[in-house]
Amino acid sequence: MKSGGHIFILTGAGVSKESGLDTFRDKGGIWAKYKIENVATPEGFDRNPALVHEFYNGRRQQLQDPKVQPNPAHHAIAKLMKEWNGDVTLVTQNIDNLHNRAAAALDLPDGIIQMHGRLLESLCTKCGVVEEINHDLNTDMVCHKCGTKGSVRPNIVWFGEMPYAMDEIYTRLADCDLFISIGTSGTVYPAAGFVAEAKAHGCIRAMEVNLERSDSSYYFDEYIIGPASETVPQLVEKILTGK
Ligand code: APR
Repeated sequence: MKSGGHIFILTGAGVSKESGLDTFRDKGGIWAKYKIENVATPEGFDRNPALVHEFYNGRRQQLQDPKVQPNPAHHAIAKLMKEWNGDVTLVTQNIDNLHNRAAAALDLPDGIIQMHGRLLESLCTKCGVVEEINHDLNTDMVCHKCGTKGSVRPNIVWFGEMPYAMDEIYTRLADCDLFISIGTSGTVYPAAGFVAEAKAHGCIRAMEVNLERSDSSYYFDEYIIGPASETVPQLVEKILTGK
C-alpha cells in the first residue's frame, strides 16, 4: 500500500466483541434472544414501543458499564486514523461508542460514520430532533423540542430504513485504495455490498479481518483470521511501518 493512499475501514459487531458486547449472529448472539421484527423494525416499534425501549435500554445500560471499554482493535484503528499520511474513512455498523472513545483518547475529531445510528442518541419521530442521551427511554417521554408525548425513539436505523450518510459513504468508496472489513458477517446490505462497490471503482486491495470468512468474502484479496484485538493492531503496525 503506497503511503498517502485512502484507506476505507468498515467495522461490525465483531470489533466490539472483546469489549464485552454481543454480536448478532454468532452462537448465542442478540438475534438468538430477540426477534428482529419485534425490536429492530419500524413496524415492531409501532406495534410494541415498550418492548423496543426495553431492548435498547438494556443495551445502553450494558454499554455504560465501566467494564465495557474500547479494546486494542478500537485503539489500533484510532492510531491509524491519527498517524496514516493519507485519508482514513471509518464507517461502522455498530451503534456503540467504542470507536468514538478510542478516537477521543487521541484527540481525533469524531469523523466516524455510524451508518446504523447511535445507542446514546434519541430521535423524535415528530420533529426529527436528535439528542444525546445516557438514560432509559420510555413511551411516556415528551420531546424537549416539539412537546409531543410518546414520539421519542432510539436513534437507531432499523431494518427497512435508510442508513445514515449513504451518499458520503459511496463517494468515499469510489475513492479508496485499500478497503478493510473488520468483524462483520457481511450479511446485511447495504454494508455487505461496500467491498464490491469499492472494487468496482478501482480499489486496489480488499482485506477481510474476521474470526471466519464472511458471506461477502468472495470479493476480498486477503483474509486475516483471528480475534480483532490481536489481528488489527498487527495489521495497523504493518500498514504504518510498510513492512
Ligand atoms: N474478532 C473478529 N471478528 C469477530 C470476533 C472477534 N473477536 N467475534 C466475532 N467476530 C465476527 C463473527 O465471526 C461474525 O462474522 O464478527 C462477525 C459479527 O457478525 P454479526 O453478528 O452478523 O454482526 P454484524 O456483521 O455487525 O451485523 C451487521 O446486522 O443486525 C444488524 O444492524 C445490525 O449492524 C448490525 C448488522
